[in-house]
Amino acid sequence: MSAGGGYQEYAFVAELYDHVVLYRDRTDVAFFVLAAQQSGGPVLEVGCGTGRVLIPTARAGIEIVGLDLSSHMLAVCRARLEQEPEAVRSRVRLIQGDMRAFELRPGFALATLPFRPFQHLLTVEDQLACLASIRRHLVVGGRLILDLFNPSLDFLANVKLGEETGEEPEFQSPDGRRVHRRLRMLACDRATQVNQHELIYHVTHPDGREERLVQAFPLRYLFRFEAEHLLARAGFEVEHVYGGYDKQPFGTTYPGELILLARRSA
Ligand SMILES: C[S@@+](CC[C@H](N)C(=O)[O-])C[C@H]1O[C@@H](n2cnc3c(N)ncnc32)[C@H](O)[C@@H]1O
Repeated sequence: MSAGGGYQEYAFVAELYDHVVLYRDRTDVAFFVLAAQQSGGPVLEVGCGTGRVLIPTARAGIEIVGLDLSSHMLAVCRARLEQEPEAVRSRVRLIQGDMRAFELRPGFALATLPFRPFQHLLTVEDQLACLASIRRHLVVGGRLILDLFNPSLDFLANVKLGEETGEEPEFQSPDGRRVHRRLRMLACDRATQVNQHELIYHVTHPDGREERLVQAFPLRYLFRFEAEHLLARAGFEVEHVYGGYDKQPFGTTYPGELILLARRSA
């Protein structure tokens, strides 16, 4: 099991990431691009990965710094940026670093963590260290968008440990590998709110050879008021709590998302 989501330990994850249908079809990009435009920039994207959100943000005319722990994810992001016009590339800076402790030039109007990188932090100490690092880099009044999933109590109560579950559409990578991905939960610790996951990639190569690749990682879930208290403790005022990327109020769908928009207090 690895911290950081396994994005550094398992290079295959970065290779396949942009082709996973559930990631490719996420409906969050317009939400983050609009927030970036409304902030005026510059934006700090923490856990920027392969640039799924970062590149559309730069295309929209906003300066953005992407921070990520994984050299593999950043390499894919760099390769994607090479396909972009110079004007887009000039708005982007990528940094390999840990969200719990990083030092960049401060002065960001907005910090974002799209698609839940914050949930790779397993302790309150790590969460507070990350929020303190982000806060130091924001202007006073600058904003933070914390993007989390709302834990489903039904899922937690009924989870079948050790069983492969989850029907996802099969996808194909550009080199012709066909991939069918499934989820296996190995442990759910209700005291620490840390679940041990395996994402299992059943790969069929163009020559028919089959391979089973596993991304094993722990993930911590947070509840709504816990996240609000954490932000208050870290020097943020929570302005909105959304249940989805259309800005529907938290709780209008269940479990929905848990998206917090907060402002750096003075
Ligand atoms: C689910 S991906 C999200 C990537 C991207 N934001 C997106 O929306 O597609 C989580 C990302 O968080 C990064 N990450 C995990 N732990 C990190 C840490 N401690 N510091 C910086 N990045 C981290 C991973 O390397 C990975 O790229």
